[in-house]
Amino acid sequence: MAVQISPSILAADFARLADEAAAVPNADWLHVDVMDYHFVPNLTIGLPVVEALRKATSTPLDCHLMIADPDRWAPQYAEAGAGSVTIHAEAAKGPIRTLREIRALGARAGLALNPATPVEPYEDLLGEVDMLLLMTVEPGFGGQKFLDGVLPKVRRAREMIRRHGGRIWLQVDGGVDAGTIERCADAGADVFVAGSAVYGASDPASAVDALRAAADARNV
Ligand code: DX5
Ligand code: ZN
Repeated sequence: MAVQISPSILAADFARLADEAAAVPNADWLHVDVMDYHFVPNLTIGLPVVEALRKATSTPLDCHLMIADPDRWAPQYAEAGAGSVTIHAEAAKGPIRTLREIRALGARAGLALNPATPVEPYEDLLGEVDMLLLMTVEPGFGGQKFLDGVLPKVRRAREMIRRHGGRIWLQVDGGVDAGTIERCADAGADVFVAGSAVYGASDPASAVDALRAAADARNV
């Protein structure tokens, strides 16, 4: 499967989002971290910014909803033009209904799991999902240290996905950089979120290329 890189604008300059999007024309997605101060102890951006960004860039938006009530809000992100909308399994009260609504509105449906949440209980939901997101840090903040302990779960998730036909993308998010991306690719991830590793670099587009090359070398 082809490697995809999704730079997280959490590490970008929020006052210049259109420019920051334009700085990574080689990105497959722009990862938009939506936080509500309830599901995670941080507050970022929401629907109005997604709507504005949609008009400011042609790069598809990969919205990661770290919010307490994704059932209520996720469909609106799909309506706002997000190409992918990911909800957290720990927060969703009706994940199947919500994932179906996201798809019905034309977006890809993602399901995210925190580092301590096991993947096995969600095997029966895979038919409802276009992407599984495994957090490799506790959600809430950029710039945290990659949790190596999640890698066995990435391998088990890749096996599960294989058993289900291999159609589902497997995304990792948190602490992904030049030093950790190879381990993630080895374990079976194919979509890589990177915040500080891209927007903390002097040349964000080169950082995207370098991450892609490192993952490609392992993704056989
Ligand atoms: C963390 C967010 C991540 C974050 C990643 O809660 O979901 O997307 O932006 O940032 P880095 O790559 O700096 O760990
Ligand atoms: Zn994220």
